[in-house]
Amino acid sequence: MAVSVALLVAALLACTCLLQSPAVVSADRYTVGSEKGWNPGVNYTVWAKDKHFYVGDWLVFYYQSGQADVLQVNEAAYNQCLADSPITNYSKGRSFAFELNKTGRYYFICSRGYCYGGMKLAIKVEKLRPAPPAGSAAVTSLAAAVPDLAAAVVRTLGVAAAVAAALLRSI
Ligand SMILES: *[C@@H]1O[C@H](CO)[C@@H](O)[C@H](O)[C@H]1NC(C)=O
Ligand SMILES: *[C@@H]1O[C@H](CO)[C@@H](O)[C@H](O)[C@H]1NC(C)=O
Ligand SMILES: *[C@@H]1O[C@H](CO)[C@@H](O)[C@H](O)[C@H]1NC(C)=O
Repeated sequence: MAVSVALLVAALLACTCLLQSPAVVSADRYTVGSEKGWNPGVNYTVWAKDKHFYVGDWLVFYYQSGQADVLQVNEAAYNQCLADSPITNYSKGRSFAFELNKTGRYYFICSRGYCYGGMKLAIKVEKLRPAPPAGSAAVTSLAAAVPDLAAAVVRTLGVAAAVAAALLRSI
């Protein structure tokens, strides 16, 4: 009985520690063109140059209603501003949020004649980190991503063990 209480205390402490650990995986939302939005006269090659995009990030295009659209196209269509066979075609409302859910290159253009002036965006989406091997515990991948967390877990488990030992001794 006493042993199972001690084990329960240890388990609770370990769980509490994991629940309190900060979220390791975070996605970024990029406003395409930053404060300039998705509009003619912005050089999106320059905008994208210093940015790294990872799987899970979002691109949000803000445009003038009825003035612009967002077409996801292939590389050839991007290079030549061809709008006749887009992969995705979006023009409703005033914004379009697009999730970058795969690695690879993504190309976007506006079909309203502004593409030739530079209203086109090409980005490369990278994998954030190697996928954890199948079946590995969440604790392992968290610990791998954040070495400090691993240390914290070890410390907490140590405390839990000490508490358990103390409980056992006090019986
Ligand atoms: C976008 O899709 C709509 C409806 O599916 C279509 O009417 C329109 O011509 C398309 N625009 C382009 C540029 O592909
Ligand atoms: C990937 O993103 C697109 C566009 O946001 C979405 O329609 C699609 O369902 C997503 N696919 C997965 C596997 O999440
Ligand atoms: C955008 O900037 C890049 C890099 O400075 C340049 O090579 C490119 O010609 C520019 N595009 C337009 C449409 O001005």
